[in-house]
Amino acid sequence: MTAPDLTGGPAAAGSHSHVHTRPASGFNPARRLAGIGVSEILAIGARAAAMGGDVIILAAGEPDLPTPAHIRQAAAEAVEAGATRYAPLTGTPALKAAIRDKHRRDNGLDYAADEIIVGAGAKQVIHNAFMASLDPGREVIIPAPFWTSYLDQVTLAGGHAVTPATTAGNGWKLTPDTLAAAITPRTRWLVLNAPSNPSGAIYSDSELKSLARVLHLHPHVWVLSDDIYEHILYDGRRFATMAAADPVLAGRTLTVNGVSKAYAMTGWRIGWGAGPRALIAAMAAIQSQSTSGAATPSQAAATAALNGPQTVLADHLAVFARRRDLVMTGLNAIPGITCPPPEGAFYAFADISGLIGRTTRDGTVLATDADVARWLLDGARVALVPGSAFGLPGHLRLSFAAADDVLADALGRIGRLIGENLVSV
Ligand SMILES: Cc1ncc(COP(=O)(O)O)c(C=O)c1O
Repeated sequence: MTAPDLTGGPAAAGSHSHVHTRPASGFNPARRLAGIGVSEILAIGARAAAMGGDVIILAAGEPDLPTPAHIRQAAAEAVEAGATRYAPLTGTPALKAAIRDKHRRDNGLDYAADEIIVGAGAKQVIHNAFMASLDPGREVIIPAPFWTSYLDQVTLAGGHAVTPATTAGNGWKLTPDTLAAAITPRTRWLVLNAPSNPSGAIYSDSELKSLARVLHLHPHVWVLSDDIYEHILYDGRRFATMAAADPVLAGRTLTVNGVSKAYAMTGWRIGWGAGPRALIAAMAAIQSQSTSGAATPSQAAATAALNGPQTVLADHLAVFARRRDLVMTGLNAIPGITCPPPEGAFYAFADISGLIGRTTRDGTVLATDADVARWLLDGARVALVPGSAFGLPGHLRLSFAAADDVLADALGRIGRLIGENLVSV
């Protein structure tokens, strides 16, 4: 695959004719990069952006909402007051205090300052955790469908991903039996992500306790709980997380969270991990040799987000809930597509098995979900991500963290393309 240009800068538009081009370098990437490209989701977004014009990109999980004013203001004031130098490796004392308060307030979890590490987004925190803990051959259980990056991050760190499938029938949730069957003596981590990207599935406290009972029998297995969508839960559902559900497991759980999704702060790049101090210290060693930690002004912004009025969470949730309804109605009205409403997060994970195997009016064969995604991009100018990128073919993921009129336009285009070209679906 040709690597897309993700810079978004003028070079991407090919406008620098006066710049001397360099000769091809004959660069060979390191073996650890074998099979790992730029994240499929970023690649689809870049390909769609390169098409230009009126293409609608519903690929990335990025709220279109602005970061709330009081958070922007706090960051600006912090910069003026001198927050422009290196922060402590694992985070500023103010942000770590705010994170401790957040976990007490929301989750009933009491972490000490040295049980917390702040990184440049939850993504970097997860990378640090795998780099700090995986030796060659160690396995990580990642229930499918999963956020694509877990798989590549495990591979990058030298580990081996084990991806037991879940089914729509059991709500895309890992069952105790499936978990037990996936564990081997080489297992190092179980990754849990709820609400899930891409399925929106959440675990109740009692479902987590059932998984914990399996893990009690396997003390070598740790849990990485990615709680980044904690606050995006629909229909009054309650959030549960492993460290709070089971006190024994708390001693071997890394809880990952951040401000990107709930507070509309993706570009600030702040996430954190909380867990046993020996693990946090090892992750800090990795971080000390890579980024030296997260940006100081961004840490001031995240502190304001966590300490400030939490009404912004409900405000954002109301927007996502409205869009979820709009997208569910629109998608389920299209022949060949069915989509149950997600319990959380802001993705529709649609079953498109009714489209697969079909031939369009102009002779395009839709053999796979990737074919359908490509056809929708070319014919409807809407970019969605095929389920195969999440380890579950036969689906498409649509991010509804976009404006209502954009979503309505996208659904109209998809419906028309299918209606006009696959008449007898
Ligand atoms: C499940 C999941 N975890 C982590 C992240 C990364 O979040 P951050 O912006 O904090 O790096 C994402 C972003 O798409 C995600 O979907």
